[in-house]
Amino acid sequence: MSTVTASSSREHRITVRSLADRKRKGQPITMLTAYDFTFARIFDSAGVDLLLVGDSLGNVVQGCDTTLPVTLDEVIYHTRLVVRGVHRSLVVGDMPFGSYQVGPEDAVRSAIRMVKEGGAHAVKLEGGTQVAASIERIVSAQIPVMGHVGLTPQSVNRMGGFRVQGRGESGRARVLEDALAVEQAGAFAVVLEGIPAALGREISRRLRIPTIGIGAGVDCDGQVLVMHDLLGLNDWTPSFVKPYANLGALASQAVRAFSDEVTNRKFPDEAHSYS
Ligand code: KIV
Repeated sequence: MSTVTASSSREHRITVRSLADRKRKGQPITMLTAYDFTFARIFDSAGVDLLLVGDSLGNVVQGCDTTLPVTLDEVIYHTRLVVRGVHRSLVVGDMPFGSYQVGPEDAVRSAIRMVKEGGAHAVKLEGGTQVAASIERIVSAQIPVMGHVGLTPQSVNRMGGFRVQGRGESGRARVLEDALAVEQAGAFAVVLEGIPAALGREISRRLRIPTIGIGAGVDCDGQVLVMHDLLGLNDWTPSFVKPYANLGALASQAVRAFSDEVTNRKFPDEAHSYS
């Protein structure tokens, strides 16, 4: 297959270029987390632009209190499952804690594994000025990078909990400086998490690259949610989350109906048995 044929078959795909275009045209971008093939397929065909294989898998898939125990191998494994489910969405693999903090060489090595073994189209890492050199190094290896500033869950111990960032003048200045550093380092987009809506608006106006908000107000260039929050699969959701369904209750109802029918020998009936 020639390069031209291969690239034309990918024309409908979301790319870092089409996302930049969306910002210029003021067209909002959608992003959701996904961790497996089945949900990736559903979200892709529903038109979600970006699928993030978030290290939030530590919370919603593995049941941990924080994302800190998640390993690079685990994110690569889930990225591989998600990539198999997409035709259009751009898949971002989240660099877990410990996979880039040692320095730029460590970061680029991890990012290359995300692309080569996981099939990620881009990677995301948390932090601003402190990780700018790592972002530059990864971008120089031709891997698109999404930044993540504000409330960065991998910094939970330093922050003393999952706390809103960017409040007060010094907080505002710090988050803004981080966002500018991420853009300057060559990131194609940046997640703004857990900051006042006014700061989300200010950063979105100042940056040329798209901002994707989560608890950062309506004026970001796009929005991201953790799929379990959106679908109502968690017992508890933070106040910035709007559950659009209650799949947890539906699943529970279906399982109870199955158990009742098995207990009463109603399942399988003739229609669901081989003659
Ligand atoms: O890991 C994750 O799901 C994330 C989103 C909350 C942006 O980083």
